Amino acid sequence: MCGIVGYVGDEQAAPILLDGLRRLEYRGYDSAGIVVSLEGKLWLTKSRGYVNNLAGIIDGGAKMPGTVGLGHTRWATHGRPTDENAHPHISDGGKIAVVHNGIIENYAKLREFLISKGYHFQSETDTEVAVNLIAYFYAENGDLKLAVAQAARRMEGSYALGILCEDFPDTLIATKKESPLVLGVGGTARYLASDVAAILSYTRDVYNLRDDEVAVITRGGIEFFSGELDPIEKTPQHIDWDVSAAEKGGYEHFMIKEIMEQPEAVRRALKSRVRDGEIYLDGLDIPADFIKSVSKVYIVACGTADFAGVVMKYNLERLARVAAEVMFASEFRYNLPPIDETTLVICISQSGTTADTIAAMREAKKHGARVLSVVNVVGSVIAEESDWSLLTLAGPEICVASTKAYSTQLAVGYLLTLFIAKARGAIDDGKYRAALDALESLPGAIDETLKLREKAQYLASRYFSANDIYFIGRGLDYALSLEGDQKLKEISYIHSEAYAAGELKHGPIALIDSAVNTPVVAIATNARLIDKMASSAVEVKTRGARVLAVVTSATQDAMRDIADDMIVVPDYAEAFLPSLAIIPLQMFAYYIALQRGCEIDKPRNLAKSVTVE
Ligand code: AGP
Repeated sequence: MCGIVGYVGDEQAAPILLDGLRRLEYRGYDSAGIVVSLEGKLWLTKSRGYVNNLAGIIDGGAKMPGTVGLGHTRWATHGRPTDENAHPHISDGGKIAVVHNGIIENYAKLREFLISKGYHFQSETDTEVAVNLIAYFYAENGDLKLAVAQAARRMEGSYALGILCEDFPDTLIATKKESPLVLGVGGTARYLASDVAAILSYTRDVYNLRDDEVAVITRGGIEFFSGELDPIEKTPQHIDWDVSAAEKGGYEHFMIKEIMEQPEAVRRALKSRVRDGEIYLDGLDIPADFIKSVSKVYIVACGTADFAGVVMKYNLERLARVAAEVMFASEFRYNLPPIDETTLVICISQSGTTADTIAAMREAKKHGARVLSVVNVVGSVIAEESDWSLLTLAGPEICVASTKAYSTQLAVGYLLTLFIAKARGAIDDGKYRAALDALESLPGAIDETLKLREKAQYLASRYFSANDIYFIGRGLDYALSLEGDQKLKEISYIHSEAYAAGELKHGPIALIDSAVNTPVVAIATNARLIDKMASSAVEVKTRGARVLAVVTSATQDAMRDIADDMIVVPDYAEAFLPSLAIIPLQMFAYYIALQRGCEIDKPRNLAKSVTVE
């Protein structure tokens, strides 16, 4: 995710800002920039690439004198990772500079408004809308603090903003909504940062800015105001974390931090795309005629992205009534199924750089298929080369084992499924609206499900010494078994397998060993299939398995007498239930790996991005 750092004090700002940006590198980014004020003017340097690149351009900061400034590392969302799109952004006319984290959802409308008022834009970013909106109000009323508050009231979405204006060269202004922003105090120096890791080597005393509050930061002082600009008092907090804990937001590992970030990530993926009872897919010009003519969908991906594809396949077939098949990219590329111009290939990839998925996408295009990609990284090969691309908006995922990327892939999959179902006339208005309502409440339901953390930890303590664990499920629960199994084996190194529950008696049931009470995780959240699932659980139980059931409040009764252990997720609309049921599986894997003393964030033999075949 983007990173912000700001400094007001007696020392030269640029080296401190570069240091802060380096400390934010762990968050992932694609470009970096700095602005300082000097002699009543703003001086800006920004470039694509790493902070070291920026540091080289400004000679470690030496080329940018000045004691007040802002720095930013950008993770592209609106607009590709280019020099122009890098932050800080300067208002038309050059008076005001802004760094921004978050997404301004109504930026297109605001941009139109500003263009009608004569403002010009240099980049593709939503941030340039923020800085020009502040400039517009400032030109109207001559009060910068008021202009910031007025602009904030007009912006929908999430933002943390650091603002520097050449008329107030010794002052930074900050405001935020939904994206975090902290202010640090050290002697006469004042700091601004998107997370404490950036400034911990300078200060441990920080104020947390709350939504809509405005802070005016000067050498030796910070004034706080409410959204209505009434002065408010705030008390600083003393942070004891070391740098490594700070990077992880106080969590022990990035994996658990990213698990806990899932409500926010899914909210981002859904929020700007579901409005007024409709789905808006980022203005993608997928012709309705094409959607109607699609005869077959192939979902092509690797690993966890492929397992998110399995959820999408089941939903596409049931809700959009279109035949869909999931293929590993490594299989698809060398075993091309029959494809033509009525084939839609959906490539899913967190990184957008996975070698097999790139090759599969190129093969599909060569043979006439249209390719829609679902990716997390803007400007990645898959995002750029596909016919249409939808961002998952998970933010950078640092742990090799995918969690929030998977959850946002599911979320984008739901949107695509409903979009295709509507375009093909496969879903009636009532069901469509009910589905959209359920999607709107989904982030809250994920939040609720995260409360199972302690229970998952307890269950992990009961199963962590197993040598083999099997996951079974039917339908969407089978899709989840694949991902539950993947999570467990990749971070705990326990041998595990996932099976469609109905397949047990055709082979896998021979693996159940009553001498060791082989653990079987029975995912039984689907109320439609619960009787079938219960009998599969009985099959393994009677052969000596120890059954851990993942159920909902609606299915728990059917499993109560069979399961040795149960974990209950909230009941939810069937199509979207995987977003809840995956949470205990991720946590179960995490806590088992923790108990086994595994290197969780960087499991052995695995890489975050697999760019070779
Ligand atoms: C999952 O935890 C792994 N990180 C891995 O399976 C991953 O999903 C796979 O390598 C695909 O990567 P991509 O999404 O970047 O294409």
